[in-house]
Amino acid sequence: MKRRTFIQNASLSGLGVVAGTTVLACNNTSSTSEANSKENPVDTMKNTEKPTPIAICTWGFTKANEAAGIALKNGDPALDAAIKGVSVEEENLKNTTVGKGGAPDREGNVTLDACVMDPSGDCGAVLCVAHITNVAALARKVMEETPHVILAGEGAEEFALANGFEKENLLTEASKEAWQEWLKTSEYKPLINIENHDTIGMLTMDGNGDIAGACTTSGLSYKMKGRVGDSPIIGSGLFLDNEIGGAVATGMGEEVLKTVGSFLIVELMRNGMSPQEACEEAVHRIVKKNDRYKDFQVAYIAMNKAGETGAYCIHEGFTMMRYQDGKNENVAVDFYKKS
Ligand code: GLY
Repeated sequence: MKRRTFIQNASLSGLGVVAGTTVLACNNTSSTSEANSKENPVDTMKNTEKPTPIAICTWGFTKANEAAGIALKNGDPALDAAIKGVSVEEENLKNTTVGKGGAPDREGNVTLDACVMDPSGDCGAVLCVAHITNVAALARKVMEETPHVILAGEGAEEFALANGFEKENLLTEASKEAWQEWLKTSEYKPLINIENHDTIGMLTMDGNGDIAGACTTSGLSYKMKGRVGDSPIIGSGLFLDNEIGGAVATGMGEEVLKTVGSFLIVELMRNGMSPQEACEEAVHRIVKKNDRYKDFQVAYIAMNKAGETGAYCIHEGFTMMRYQDGKNENVAVDFYKKS
């Protein structure tokens, strides 16, 4: 694949999909010079001005993204800001797909998955954790306080309690009622996630230009006991390389896992694709396999070292939040399946 500069996707610009709202030298080159150039925007930016801090996250999680953006503006390092941001949704009882209040598994147990990654490339994850709300912060503890990357289930919970996390009942009355309603048919059909805000994945770039990320979810509603999706799996739900950029995923975790989606996007950016192009290619890798994509949603968001962002998904309805310079925008995202 040719290395080249960022090529603004004209078909998406009307939607405001290719963010690039920061005025960067590398965004202003003409398409002719772009086509002839061998420069990658990431390389171009290495020794030039850093973008002002940026936070992006999956779906319309306005408050979470704003919390991260304000933290960055106040000088927080990238990972602190990402964890502050996603914790807003982990603590939001009305959010039935993340944290406390998340939908339970078939047996009525709410179990949470999360991972974090810092600019050094260090990472931590927790899988299938009951009774702990702030699992992204817990994943960070695993990263910082243990020689491991992943703790799962009871071990993760014991580690959490030993490290000052509070034991909580994550099943709210509302989620319990919805689950009891579901039990009447017990129809296990994965949702397309048009209205269902599955997973908050967030990427942050701080004032030093360092990138971090966090991804946290209660997973598929009424999942099989023990089921874990993409969100806590480094490379699938989240991946970043501080020299290149990062990506996070939301939607049908099984499909993201099978294509190692976030790692793929970072590697495509390393080889010269813009964040937008890389997200589109990662979605294409899924949809070209067979027709099953018609029944599920997958969406990616990505940011490169130059502060350029992109997003793409299978079905209409997914949006991305983007905070920069005090502006927190809900950005429309283009999608694969047009009919
Ligand atoms: N993307 C969240 C999950 O599949 O669990």
